[in-house]
Amino acid sequence: MSLNEVPNVPVQSFLEVRDLRRDFGGVWAVDGASFEAQSGCITALIGPNGAGKSTVVDLIGGALRPTSGQVLMDGRDITALKPHERARLGLVRTYQMSSEFGRLTVLENLLVGVPDQRGERFRTLVIGKRYWREQEEAVLVKAFGLMDRFAMSEKRDEYAGNLSGGQKRLLEIMRSLMAEPKLLLLDEPMAGINPTLARVIEGYLSDLAKEGLTMLLIEHELDVVDRLCESVVFMAQGKVIATGKMEELLKNTGVLNAYLAG
Ligand SMILES: Nc1ncnc2c1ncn2[C@@H]1O[C@H](COP(=O)(O)OP(=O)(O)O)[C@@H](O)[C@H]1O
Ligand SMILES: [Mg+2]
Repeated sequence: MSLNEVPNVPVQSFLEVRDLRRDFGGVWAVDGASFEAQSGCITALIGPNGAGKSTVVDLIGGALRPTSGQVLMDGRDITALKPHERARLGLVRTYQMSSEFGRLTVLENLLVGVPDQRGERFRTLVIGKRYWREQEEAVLVKAFGLMDRFAMSEKRDEYAGNLSGGQKRLLEIMRSLMAEPKLLLLDEPMAGINPTLARVIEGYLSDLAKEGLTMLLIEHELDVVDRLCESVVFMAQGKVIATGKMEELLKNTGVLNAYLAG
């Protein structure tokens, strides 16, 4: 076979959601959702309030069990796995910080963001001290690297509870990055924060995608989606109504126009 006969390598779909359904007491929050997210891209999940977007993210992350359907990551069926088992495979979602984390400093928040970290403290007593010291040093290096990268070094010893809304959101993203995810799920990470910092976070997400991180992003602002996301999944009433590039969706679906008008 000559070089120009080599077939194009198909774009890898890293996440595949197959016919997901979830009901709450007979009401279908997610009613047969199927879509894929490509490797190294940001895929947007959009749709009106109540469409089922957050429920889909909970089903993918494992916080909720589907009534039926499958979630595949990197070709592997992960539907039966618990959230921490998915995290170990590289599937991580950002969580809004609960109040208890407000009483930890920025650095402490990053250190507890590492999977299994709390349990490991106890194991330190049992397993070789030197090994664990090296592990802890690596974690510290990672935390300092992230603070540097996201311009949060000056806030290192600040209590998370004292940060601005936008800085809290940034810290949530940094915490999830401590786990070195392959697939990151983000539920409206820029909602309700000042436009300047929202733009900064948008830039960070764009950089992370360029570095190969696969992301699924619920985002309400369609111009943000247009700038960041190569592929868009549009949901309404628990169903996927359309998928494609933003400009295609804008051209081709009356549904989306209705969403924009509303
Ligand atoms: N824990 C729950 N119990 C009952 N109903 C829920 C629950 N979570 C979501 N729902 C319902 O499921 C539907 C989809 O919600 P959600 O996934 O939050 O939508 P979105 O994120 O698109 O706004 C809504 O009608 C919502 O009221
Ligand atoms: Mg939601």
